[in-house]
Amino acid sequence: MSDPQLDGKICLVTGATDGMGKATARALAMMGAHVLVVGRNSEKGPGVVDEIKRACDHDRVDFLLCDLSSQKEIRALATRVHTEYPRLDVLVNNAGGVIEPRMETVDGIEYTWALNQLSGFLLTDLLLDRLKAAGGARIVNVSSTGHGGGINFDDIEMKHDYKIFRAYMQSKLAIIMSTYELNRRLVDSDVTINVLHPGWVGSAFGSGANLGKRILFSLARWTFMKSPDQGAKTAIYLASSPEVEGVTGLYFANEKPFNSSAESYDESDAKRLWDLCAAMTDASAPAAQKRQT
Ligand SMILES: NC(=O)c1ccc[n+]([C@@H]2O[C@H](COP(=O)([O-])OP(=O)(O)OC[C@H]3O[C@@H](n4cnc5c(N)ncnc54)[C@H](OP(=O)(O)O)[C@@H]3O)[C@@H](O)[C@H]2O)c1
Repeated sequence: MSDPQLDGKICLVTGATDGMGKATARALAMMGAHVLVVGRNSEKGPGVVDEIKRACDHDRVDFLLCDLSSQKEIRALATRVHTEYPRLDVLVNNAGGVIEPRMETVDGIEYTWALNQLSGFLLTDLLLDRLKAAGGARIVNVSSTGHGGGINFDDIEMKHDYKIFRAYMQSKLAIIMSTYELNRRLVDSDVTINVLHPGWVGSAFGSGANLGKRILFSLARWTFMKSPDQGAKTAIYLASSPEVEGVTGLYFANEKPFNSSAESYDESDAKRLWDLCAAMTDASAPAAQKRQT
């Protein structure tokens, strides 16, 4: 199948200054989309945009500066998208990582939880009206097969016993549960939302870990891991392929639907998680308020 054409569409990719986010942004731009590259680094961002522009041979690629660990910056980003762009067709919530030792954001929230789960939750909520207006818009959330271990509702920010991979796996489980929950809330719209595991990918992932783990990540990168271009394939597929038009509420890997862990399908925990995330982000848009059942 030839590449789908995305001329006239606007796609926003978070964490698009490196790794799979950059590969996703570049691929969507090469299909003709106007791509909004969201990143936290004001020096790196413009260079990435120039690189993508050279690859796609048009100049509809913009850098939007946003540290997604800050809810104030996420709100400013959403305002900018509303003000400067007439539509939004694709939102790829890709930014994420592992953090060690435990850190808190400017909002006083544990960093892994704030970046991996709350940032995508809030940004989606703030942009949902734009996505609903676009007609057939798509939300693509990047999770991991490394999800699970439950949601620790008693200590979601792991104030008492922080473990780097436990925090990561909880946040990635939350992304899947929130994807399914938002899908249940989107019954009155044609916006689709899916979530994916990209595979094990040799990117800058792991740079927030301690030295020993960073060395292990480097070794893995040179041995069995996929390249960021290969790892981005499922995100690109879900963001653009006609094959998944109208397909929603599923977990994908290798461009195919899979079952996520049994606990990720628990609807009562998903509702509880949703209410907690809405409270932690002060989300007020319709997505956060309504549940159809
Ligand atoms: N690599 C794997 O094996 C693997 C496996 C499963 C799932 N994943 C998931 O795939 C996604 C992409 O990972 P990757 O491997 O491509 O990682 P990566 O190379 O480390 O890229 C992460 C991107 O997120 C950005 N980012 C980090 N913190 C940010 C913040 N506070 N505000 C805004 N942007 C921020 C980074 O910006 P900078 O350029 O400024 O650093 C970078 O652009 C993540 O959600 C990850 O959890 C990865």
